Amino acid sequence: MMAVDAVIRARLASDVVLVRQVAEYIIGAGGKRLRPALVLFAAGATGYPGTHHHDLAAVVEFIHTATLLHDDVVDESDLRRGNSTANAMFGNAAAVLVGDFLYSRAFQMMVAVDNMRVMSVLSDATNTIAEGEVLQLMNCHNADVDVEAYLRVIRFKTAKLFEAAAQLGAILGAASPTVEENLARYGMHLGTAFQLIDDVLDYSGDESTTGKHLGDDLAEGKPTLPLIHVLQHGDERQSAVVRRAIEQGGREDFPAVIEAIRATDALAEARRRAQAESALALAELSRLADSTYKDSLVQLTKFAVARNY
Ligand code: IPE
Ligand code: IPE
Ligand code: MG
Ligand code: MG
Repeated sequence: MMAVDAVIRARLASDVVLVRQVAEYIIGAGGKRLRPALVLFAAGATGYPGTHHHDLAAVVEFIHTATLLHDDVVDESDLRRGNSTANAMFGNAAAVLVGDFLYSRAFQMMVAVDNMRVMSVLSDATNTIAEGEVLQLMNCHNADVDVEAYLRVIRFKTAKLFEAAAQLGAILGAASPTVEENLARYGMHLGTAFQLIDDVLDYSGDESTTGKHLGDDLAEGKPTLPLIHVLQHGDERQSAVVRRAIEQGGREDFPAVIEAIRATDALAEARRRAQAESALALAELSRLADSTYKDSLVQLTKFAVARNY
């Protein structure tokens, strides 16, 4: 991970001062670096002997960071990684444009790796994330979104990059098509569990631990699983509260929505689903030979569900 960090630092370079400022601002704030870790673990678990995994791990983190810069503009969020978001600090225009810089820098770096399969996986993943964010935009303020439509959004916007990260490691490690597919599916289930928990934390997290504000999803009228659960299993009054909140957005209804979520045990239900996804992820690892890398993949799966940040 130190080698990955060195690549990240080196490749942030730009003669344009504002690019450097904004990019260093968000990347300097840290982040869990789960996706780059996934590239390294999958490459290690499949016996990759080279160094391109450091470059691809940095590529994946740049793509992730670009999505965060854009996502915070779209979601009008003002806290990320415990700091003001880039849009709050530098304005929406700078955040969007530096997001574009990071996407395109990621593409320069992946071309340098010179492997057509790698480019195919990463360009498809980037395209799918964009579709996921647009799908989510279309679902905002729609209280009739069902669980299936919600899951489609999170597979696209979040799980796809986890899937790509794990698959890239397997491609570098020249894994068999079966093992590559196993690792890709592992990443997809892991990423789904990860976003399910993110959506739980948006209602229950501790802001000083998550580094993000509670209630951002409700403010945008996002029909995430906790709310869908209330709509489907709450009594008339509870579901009316949630329907109104989704349709109107904003933060005024937050206390009433939290109460409906508590009364219907909606967060526990979302956690159960995350747990089930993580079990599916673990099952995909059965063909991998035992190694410290495989152990780390197992740990990562547990963290995705147990995490509070
Ligand atoms: C945040 O991802 C965006 C989601 C997909 C939920 P992370 O929680 O991995 O963000 P950082 O990189 O650790 O800040
Ligand atoms: C993030 O979804 C997905 C992407 C960045 C593509 P969220 O909107 O839930 O992520 P946070 O909560 O802002 O980190
Ligand atoms: Mg967001
Ligand atoms: Mg979120």
